Amino acid sequence: MSKQDQVIIFDTTMRDGEQSPGASMNLEEKLRIAEILEAMRVDVIEAGFAIASEGDFEAINEVSKIIRESTICSLSRSGREDIERSAEALKPAERKRIHTFIAVSPIHMEHKLLMKPEDVHAAVIDSVTHARNFCDDVEWSGEDATRADRDFLFKCIESAIKAGATTVNIPDTVGYTVPAEYRDLITDIMNSVPNIDKARVSVHCHNDLGLAVANSLAALDAGARQIECTINGLGERAGNCSLEEIVMALKTRSDAMPYTTGVDTTQIMKASRMVSTVTGFAVQPNKAIVGANAFAHEAGIHQDGMLKNKSTYEIMLPEDVGLVESKLVMGKHSGRHAFREKLKEMGYEMGQNALNDAFRRFKAVADQKKDVFDEDIIALVDDEILREHERVQFVSLRVVAGSEGPQQASLKLDIDGEVKQAEATGNGPVDAIFNGIRELFPHDATLQLYQVHAVTHGTDAQAEVTVRLEEDGKTVNGQGADPDTMVASARAYVHALNKLMTKREKTAPAALSA
Ligand code: KIV
Ligand code: ZN
Repeated sequence: MSKQDQVIIFDTTMRDGEQSPGASMNLEEKLRIAEILEAMRVDVIEAGFAIASEGDFEAINEVSKIIRESTICSLSRSGREDIERSAEALKPAERKRIHTFIAVSPIHMEHKLLMKPEDVHAAVIDSVTHARNFCDDVEWSGEDATRADRDFLFKCIESAIKAGATTVNIPDTVGYTVPAEYRDLITDIMNSVPNIDKARVSVHCHNDLGLAVANSLAALDAGARQIECTINGLGERAGNCSLEEIVMALKTRSDAMPYTTGVDTTQIMKASRMVSTVTGFAVQPNKAIVGANAFAHEAGIHQDGMLKNKSTYEIMLPEDVGLVESKLVMGKHSGRHAFREKLKEMGYEMGQNALNDAFRRFKAVADQKKDVFDEDIIALVDDEILREHERVQFVSLRVVAGSEGPQQASLKLDIDGEVKQAEATGNGPVDAIFNGIRELFPHDATLQLYQVHAVTHGTDAQAEVTVRLEEDGKTVNGQGADPDTMVASARAYVHALNKLMTKREKTAPAALSA
């Protein structure tokens, strides 16, 4: 297959993905995700929107220091200050890209930007020209391109390329287009923009009608060679095109779609789990590729077929997405060395402190659970990694539950290095725990969601709890895992609370919306 058939995979989990309400990620979490994306050999990592907040700036800057293979990208509106902020954040990057965008549809220009088309066109030229002063790799996006006037869009694309854009992106910002129409638009761009051969054409599809993946694939046939996507399809509203679906569709149906990506698909499950843990956005069980049921076979007739020949019902190999069979891993007699080796085998490198804490928790799980599976270790290790530097840390919990109230919680938290204890009551044990946390660390956030799911089968399975908190219009999700559902609940609440504290102040979301 020629280089022309290579599709660049541009991941925007940390930028567009993070724009989902509640999906905020702190610095540690972004660094962790960036490492997985690089291990996965994603071509471009959009690490944030530099001017949006100090937190975004810092994340782009720190990701730029540690990632060497993937290109690191920062988003900017068309203003010079935005672009300079991106350039500054990207300074340490080995490979960098400035991504600048402006809306090009009549509806956005008239009602959101309050700008005339000729002023938008001038801003396209100015922004790309300015970005090229800092970086050879510049991407220009025409926001809401699928609802733009085609002639105006073509003029903007041509000018962006003339000004030095090396990639031109045609976003379906509101997830409005359909495959045939999008293919036609990209074909029209290929045939009408005279200098289109000087740039790579990119697509960025939102999933409002559930068509983001189909639209992106349709665009490849017309000549697009970059797809913007996110892990688990995370993103604004109904999300973005899902990375794992695009990559596995291209791998599985290379007969119908002769394009390649450089992605190591065996990292997919790990990336999916990490993004779900960090954001608290659980993956729906029937989600393609990464859902818990994606490779499960329940119906007798299916199981019979699978036993005779796997290809009867399986079009992909589970191991190709990094799904290893649930293995009984270790028990309570396993030592620290074996535990570290097991982590290595599963692709985890941890610092000594995190390793010690994870090992302690593993021993506790092994004491409580009959069988310890890979999934148990993954759940507790992810949990441990994400909590290493938090201000408030869970220490211990004892609850009194049952039909004869009042339900009580005796809780210890480590707050800024000092262990504090509270005794609280509530309408049920979970309420008592949350009241105890509120007593030890007063705050105004309200609980929006409390959700529990089991990591593995069996009544002794670990519980994974998600807690969503809201304060001043900002929402965050926290997660906690433990064989004891009450402990997992406390951990999840504490995780959300830490996130709320570090949630960066963003500039007006409407002005930044993309
Ligand atoms: O959806 C969108 O239009 C965007 C652009 C900034 C690429 O996210
Ligand atoms: Zn978008």
